[in-house]
Amino acid sequence: MVARIVITGAGGQVGTFLAGEAARRGVEASALTHRQCDITDSDAVERFIAASDLVVNCAAIANVDAAEADPDTAYAVNATGAENVAHACARAGAQLIHLSTDYVFSGQQRHPYDVGDEAAPLGVYGRSKLAGEVAVLAAMPDAHVVRTSWVYTGAGGTDFVAGIRRLAGTDETADAVDDQVGSPTYVKDLADAVFEIGEGRIREPVLHVANEGACTRLELARAVFTELGADPQRIRPVSTAQAGRPAPRPAYSALSMGLSVRAGLTPPRPWRAALAEALAQPVPGGQLPSTP
Ligand SMILES: NC(=O)c1ccc[n+]([C@@H]2O[C@H](COP(=O)([O-])OP(=O)(O)OC[C@H]3O[C@@H](n4cnc5c(N)ncnc54)[C@H](OP(=O)(O)O)[C@@H]3O)[C@@H](O)[C@H]2O)c1
Repeated sequence: MVARIVITGAGGQVGTFLAGEAARRGVEASALTHRQCDITDSDAVERFIAASDLVVNCAAIANVDAAEADPDTAYAVNATGAENVAHACARAGAQLIHLSTDYVFSGQQRHPYDVGDEAAPLGVYGRSKLAGEVAVLAAMPDAHVVRTSWVYTGAGGTDFVAGIRRLAGTDETADAVDDQVGSPTYVKDLADAVFEIGEGRIREPVLHVANEGACTRLELARAVFTELGADPQRIRPVSTAQAGRPAPRPAYSALSMGLSVRAGLTPPRPWRAALAEALAQPVPGGQLPSTP
């Protein structure tokens, strides 16, 4: 049982959910937003961490295009900031789970990436996150780096699935890329894995956490529509080139949990089953929000 969980980046998608999950489990939580604790400020980080805490670093520049546009800030947060958190945890004697990403992989592979596969990121986001992984484990070899992918809440958030869900209630059409493949991950399943790792029984330093299976963004969007009874053909395929986003993205970044399950993590459920559960949850506020 985790005594206290300290969440950095607690105002973000994963941090917000983790804080709620801690409350649901009756675990004391210190949920620190960017304003309350800037992880690029090593003194600030030290002040919040005590012995026997479980620290989960959710703070990041996680917007891939924003990272590409401002590499200095991306490295300051994703690499140096992560290192600050690791040093503070090592000094205090706290446990650390540091979140990382499938974007550390190049996308050349055509079967799910496992922990032993070579990391070769394409863009600033992935490179800065990989630098963070290395810095965290150098500062604190018994920390856990948890790579996850295509995380969604499914409701109320700004994530891909929540956005598609909002569209389902309208008569609008939307585009989704059909040449990027990944493993969608329901934030609840990620949170369950974080609490499982927090129990302290798993020794492997690098772990993968994602729902089982892989799909394109188009298949994911259409699955959301299908699940909600909307016409999936309203989602039209586009290529990554047509989508014209500034930062490069791996064409294939599905994650395998094979080695992580062997290390002791509970096997993941298929992504469609997790998606169905996510979409069965009510949207906060009781009704579908209007499209932005
Ligand atoms: N979402 C995904 O699909 C996904 C996939 C793979 C991996 N991950 C990883 O999962 C973790 C959590 O991602 P997320 O989806 O929750 O991202 P998010 O919603 O963008 O949240 C990141 C949070 O970090 C905060 N932050 C930024 N700079 C900070 C700083 N210097 N000090 C403290 N906090 C700072 C942000 O606050 P402000 O907005 O106020 O600046 C934001 O609340 C990240 O490590 C990300 O790389 C996410």
